[in-house]
Amino acid sequence: MAKRVPTIEEVRQKARSCRNCDLWRRATQTVFGAGPSSARMMLVGEQPGNEEDVQGEPFVGPAGQALDRALREAGIHREVVYLTNAVKHFKWEPGPGDKRIHKKPNISEQHACRPWLDAELSIIRPEIVVCMGATAVRALFGKEIAVLRDRGKILEPGFAPLAMVTVHPSSILRTRTDEDRHAARAAFAKDLRKAAQAIK
Ligand code: URA
Repeated sequence: MAKRVPTIEEVRQKARSCRNCDLWRRATQTVFGAGPSSARMMLVGEQPGNEEDVQGEPFVGPAGQALDRALREAGIHREVVYLTNAVKHFKWEPGPGDKRIHKKPNISEQHACRPWLDAELSIIRPEIVVCMGATAVRALFGKEIAVLRDRGKILEPGFAPLAMVTVHPSSILRTRTDEDRHAARAAFAKDLRKAAQAIK
């Protein structure tokens, strides 16, 4: 008999007690993906940040606000997309005071988390996956695709009918001048709009 595909809610519950790597030890909770199971577009970021770790939802902190703004500019409703991360626990180091400094997840942590991303892909079955930033690109494509070289191209990967790679929304927040920020935001929104048009 064919194995029943679990629901996204069942997988989310399972991921709450994930011990595939050590990142759970310092994190508050697993931050699983969010959005409708019927989503046609999936956006993949790196890992939850400080705010996401506390709230248990992806993209609710400053990078999430930059993403929301770009989605609006691209004419995409956040409620219809599925938002997730390559790694589901916040990796951080103690900083000055009670600050928690974000640390990039390494390759073995990305590999350890991959089964959750695979489960999300096989349940949601998005028509297009937008990989935002180097970690998401590395997790899904390995070394074959590079953000700066391949940004904005519509790709046909094995894991979904279509995919696109673009920058991470936090890169908009790291720009130095208003002019650069404006340009970075417009370029990011343009990529998101192109991804939406590819599945029209
Ligand atoms: N950055 C990410 O990559 N994902 C989040 O959920 C928040 C910030």
